Amino acid sequence: MSEAKEDVQLHGPLYDMRALGFEAGQVVTVTGAGSGIGKATALAAATSGLGVAAWDINGDAAQITADEIAGLGGKALAITVDVADPEGVARAWDASLALGECPYLVNNAGPPSNDEAPFLTNLERALGSVELVTSQWLARVGDRADSLVNLASVAGNFQGGGKTIQAFYPAAKTGITGYTRYLASKYDGKPRANAVAPGMTLTPRTVPFMQNPAIAENARSIPVGRPGYPEELAAAILFLLSPAASYINGVLLPVDGGWVVA
Ligand SMILES: NC(=O)c1ccc[n+]([C@@H]2O[C@H](COP(=O)([O-])OP(=O)(O)OC[C@H]3O[C@@H](n4cnc5c(N)ncnc54)[C@H](O)[C@@H]3O)[C@@H](O)[C@H]2O)c1
Repeated sequence: MSEAKEDVQLHGPLYDMRALGFEAGQVVTVTGAGSGIGKATALAAATSGLGVAAWDINGDAAQITADEIAGLGGKALAITVDVADPEGVARAWDASLALGECPYLVNNAGPPSNDEAPFLTNLERALGSVELVTSQWLARVGDRADSLVNLASVAGNFQGGGKTIQAFYPAAKTGITGYTRYLASKYDGKPRANAVAPGMTLTPRTVPFMQNPAIAENARSIPVGRPGYPEELAAAILFLLSPAASYINGVLLPVDGGWVVA
């Protein structure tokens, strides 16, 4: 995990999400919960009263998230899993469902935008894994599935993504948006399916880029004048996931400080 310079503030406030209407004791599965946006989402979910199945390929990182949730008085289980591995995902669902009814899912894990594996390998990891995790979830929970949120990106959906990323990334993120819309229309709203498109968000993955002067200069074109905090993504994800968003289905919500409209 990369460490940021001490003068870079990496986190915003973690808001209490209890007013969003979740039923205490129900469980959300968050993939990639060991770092960045996934970790902030797992912690925010815990403030809402949900139990958290914290999935990550990095089991130690998932365990730290689960321990932090326990420290907040919440319930969480760390699960080590590669979301692109069908047998591993099946075992992870067994473990998650043992924690409690799991009507909520956040598909957040995926390879970084500069990953140099072959195009189709990364499409499988970034896009195929979202379908894999979701279809196994739907097969297990059926119409008790309330809602899911998928992590897309401004890349692919509102912009090309620039010169430093690999081709699979915008392709996968556009695919995730299309798959989200498919889910939103396929199952009569059980589950509702929505996506968020983060702009530049400060996470262990992106902080090293943000310290590059050219990218820092680019960030100044964001109307709110700074990159986003993972907690700001988490708040939007939790809202879309929640009963408070019961009539929102099939949207792609940019959470980017106005970057794509500037
Ligand atoms: N940070 C940004 O600026 C930004 C912008 C647009 C979109 N996103 C999207 O948001 C999501 C989270 O990004 P982040 O910046 O928080 O990343 P991050 O690197 O901080 O965290 C990602 C987590 O996912 C885990 N992970 C990766 N591959 C996995 C796999 N195959 N199985 C299970 N776990 C896996 C990693 O171990 C890590 O803990 C990603 O889908 C990313 O594409 C981020």
